[in-house]
Amino acid sequence: MNQSFEKEKYAPIGVFDSGVGGLTVAREIMRQLPQERIIYFGDTARVPYGSKSRETIVRYSRQIIHFLESKGVKAIVVACNTASAFALEALRPEMKMPIIGVVKPGAKVAAEITNNGRIGVIGTEGTVGSHIYTEMIHRHNPRASVLGKACPLFVPLVEEGWLKDPVTIEVAKRYLAYFQESDIDTLILGCTHYPLLRSMIGEIMGGKVSLVNPAYETAQGLKRLLAQHGISNDGKEEKEPMYQFYVSDAAEKFKNFANSILPCEIEEAQLIHIEE
Ligand code: DGL
Repeated sequence: MNQSFEKEKYAPIGVFDSGVGGLTVAREIMRQLPQERIIYFGDTARVPYGSKSRETIVRYSRQIIHFLESKGVKAIVVACNTASAFALEALRPEMKMPIIGVVKPGAKVAAEITNNGRIGVIGTEGTVGSHIYTEMIHRHNPRASVLGKACPLFVPLVEEGWLKDPVTIEVAKRYLAYFQESDIDTLILGCTHYPLLRSMIGEIMGGKVSLVNPAYETAQGLKRLLAQHGISNDGKEEKEPMYQFYVSDAAEKFKNFANSILPCEIEEAQLIHIEE
């Protein structure tokens, strides 16, 4: 292995999202790649991304990638489904380092595990409207039929902490009724926040529908990507800190949410001005 790879493998991975939701992806990376360091950026000043235009999301994502590059990351994970849908392919040609989004890994697994070729996708308006999951699923399974449903209220309900609240159950029932006659056997949780509602969604959909969590699949994909590039951290050189968090607003609120879902305690989230 050449020297630059040798050094690079101890660099952190940059993970970004529109806010707290991408912590579900960071959590999977922490679980599956415990030797990897992470620099996380949550764009809490400009959340939500799910209702914004493609141009805006590309601009925001480019700024964040530049910030993460300035921190010396070795690879980037676009943890946000909407940013993966709108910005990933637009920005890939500008990138010198490996980059992975959450859509492709989730779509691939759904295409592989469906028995009847009928797949549902739930996500933000942006993700569902982009039809990116359909496109990616068809790359693996051109005959699959894909049905998308935007569930915008899930994001504020999760951020309110109402994970098992009767209101959230009612909202979920109304959204998911859309799939009632569709005979889907697989449902992609195509938004960062939805894995936190997984058990509720599973109960409503019933045992015959498999749920795909793109966060889990992305961590698997990241593991393969780092290995392909020869930059997996072997854990031999211990560098601190393991995890660093940056946000564009409301650092304290972010920290509290992070501490409610991460397997580790975070001490601070640093505030930065991403537009500058
Ligand atoms: N992170 C976004 C996503 O996965 C959800 C929140 C938002 O709309 O910004 O699409």
